[in-house]
Amino acid sequence: MDPAGLVNIRPLSGPDLEAALPALARLRIEVFRAFPYLYEGSLAYEETYLRKFSAARDALIVAAEADDGAIVGCATGSGMDDQHAEFAEPLETAGHDLTTTFYFGESVLLPAWRGHGVGHAFFDAREAHAITRGYRRACFCAVERPADHPKRPAGYSPLDRFWNARGYRKLPGILAHFEWPEEPGGPQLAHPMAYWMREF
Ligand SMILES: CC(C)(COP(=O)(O)OP(=O)(O)OC[C@H]1O[C@@H](n2cnc3c(N)ncnc32)[C@H](O)[C@@H]1OP(=O)(O)O)[C@@H](O)C(=O)NCCC(=O)NCCS
Repeated sequence: MDPAGLVNIRPLSGPDLEAALPALARLRIEVFRAFPYLYEGSLAYEETYLRKFSAARDALIVAAEADDGAIVGCATGSGMDDQHAEFAEPLETAGHDLTTTFYFGESVLLPAWRGHGVGHAFFDAREAHAITRGYRRACFCAVERPADHPKRPAGYSPLDRFWNARGYRKLPGILAHFEWPEEPGGPQLAHPMAYWMREF
C-alpha cells in the first residue's frame, strides 16, 4: 500500500525540527521501550541526542505525520564518520571506509501505523539521500537478543527478513556495544549490536 495515503513523510530541519523535537523524543522512548530494545529513555537525553544528530554531516531526519499533523514515526541518518565512537570505531577497525558509508540511526513507527509501507518509505528516503550525497554504502546497527530472552513477547518476529529483502546483510564477526538502562533509574547496560550493510 502507498503510505502517502495514510501518512505524509517529510524531512525536518531548522525551526520545523526544533518544534518537533519533543514529539520525536517521546516517540523514540515509546517505541524503543518495547522488545527488543527495552530502552528506558529520558526526554532530556533524547532531545539532546536528536539535536546533535541533526547537526552531523549530511544528516537527514524524516518524520511520518498523520493527517492531523501528529508525528507517528521518524527515521534518521548521517555520515558514519560523524557518529558515536561506539558505532564508528568497530567498523573502522574492521577495515571499512567511514567517509563513504552512510549510517542509519533508527527507524521508529508507532505500532498502529505499521504494515503499510512506511518502513520501506523510510529506507527509500535515506538511501536516496545517501546516494545523492555520493555515499557508496549504507549501514545500521540492530540490538542482538537471544531467542530465549525472557522478555521476548510471544509471536515476536525479528526484522531480519525485511532487511535482507532491502539488500542488507549482517556483517559477520563485528559488533558495536552501546549502553542504555532497561529500568527507570537502573544501571547503564552494555548491549551488543550487529552491523547490517548494503553496497549501492
Ligand atoms: C521498523 C518499522 C519502522 C517498520 O515499519 P512498517 O511500516 O511496519 O514496515 P513496512 O510496512 O514498510 O514493512 C516492510 C516489510 O517488512 C515486513 N515486516 C514489517 N514488520 C515485520 C516484523 N515485525 N516481522 C517480520 N516482517 C516484518 C513487512 O511484511 C514488509 O514486507 P514486504 O515488503 O515483503 O511486504 C517498525 O516495525 C518499527 O517501528 N519497529 C520498532 C522499532 C525498530 O525495531 N526499528 C528498527 C531498528 S532502529
